[in-house]
Amino acid sequence: MSTELSAKMKKVSISPTSAFFARVEEMKRNGMDIISLNVGEPDFPTPSNIKAAGIKAIEENFTKYTEGSGIAPLRKAISKKLKEDNGLTYEMDEIAVMTGAKQALSAALMAIVSDGDEVIIPTPCYVSYPDMVSLAGGVSVLVERADDFSLDMDAIKNAVTDKTKAVIICSPDNPTGHVYSEQSIRELADLSIQKDFFVISDEIYEKIIYDQKKAFSIAGVPGMKDRTILINGFSKTYSMTGWRMGYLCARKDVIKAAIKVQSQTTTTPSSISQMASLEALEGPQDSVEAMVLEFQKRRDYVYERLNSIEGVSCKPIMGAFYALFDVSSYIGKKAADGKVLENDVELCEYLLEKEHVAAMPGSCYKAPGTLRISFASSMDVLKKALDRIENGLMLS
Ligand SMILES: Cc1ncc(COP(=O)(O)O)c(C=O)c1O
Repeated sequence: MSTELSAKMKKVSISPTSAFFARVEEMKRNGMDIISLNVGEPDFPTPSNIKAAGIKAIEENFTKYTEGSGIAPLRKAISKKLKEDNGLTYEMDEIAVMTGAKQALSAALMAIVSDGDEVIIPTPCYVSYPDMVSLAGGVSVLVERADDFSLDMDAIKNAVTDKTKAVIICSPDNPTGHVYSEQSIRELADLSIQKDFFVISDEIYEKIIYDQKKAFSIAGVPGMKDRTILINGFSKTYSMTGWRMGYLCARKDVIKAAIKVQSQTTTTPSSISQMASLEALEGPQDSVEAMVLEFQKRRDYVYERLNSIEGVSCKPIMGAFYALFDVSSYIGKKAADGKVLENDVELCEYLLEKEHVAAMPGSCYKAPGTLRISFASSMDVLKKALDRIENGLMLS
């Protein structure tokens, strides 16, 4: 007998983004003028038609448990969206609504990963993927992406073993904003079919894509629908991070297993948020277009400014609202107090303490020597923040 924590927990850490968020919020509460570029959520309010649908749900007492897989009208609306936007055919029992894309990812991994199974994660990657794999009992196999952040297919091929259960991809991605080419997605599909593993395709930033590009879903490649677990949600596209709504689409047996996880953990997603999400899909989409246009202007500004700072380089940002930029030339330099900044975490701490600007250390995303900022802030705030970063990087 023992009152120790589980062995599993030793392999899992609290999401660094959440931990950093808490610290920055505390500094703000203490009256400090901190600019937060660390948070991954749109700065726009949830559109008013969506808020009204949530309020209506409460007023009409739609406030109880719902079907475990999500209410039928919402799954029907998701199925319609997938057909119209992505050319994909998913029946209603191939869709499950969850409490955020994060829960959908986690339930998907629990559904398919047995103890010791390997999950390949191209890096840089979303901060939570490796820990989610550990929580499901699997082992993450991190495979670096190419210099331009495209998939390094040779490296992925070399990483595949008998234990490979899945590869997780995200496009457009957090933290780099890269969008994988259709060709690279087709190559990954070929490998998945040949070697027989799942692809978990995180498409949460699907609509936040620039220069009139369109993201390509691996689920649309012939032979891939049954081996793809498509993840999407409402947090980013509809500025609904606090409503906690996401979904997964997959083969019926995978969906059934993911619903088992949900039924034994959170039971169902929030009834109110489901009604709001239904309106998000069925109502006007003009707020999404306006948001993306605004993000594109900010992307242009942030990209130019970062690349104009000596010793900093940022690769093209094709989607999402993040810039991951190389600051390795500043590692090893001294801050004003003489302290040597040994790595990106220390550089980040220094920018927070000295310049009151909060970025995220790239090592959280398995990209040491870089920093990530979110440009989901107004242009005025971004200008001030980049002045502070530039000033802070005048190091000897
Ligand atoms: C790549 C990626 N996937 C999933 C999520 C989680 O989204 P949700 O709010 O729907 O749980 C995020 C949020 O930052 C993300 O960046």
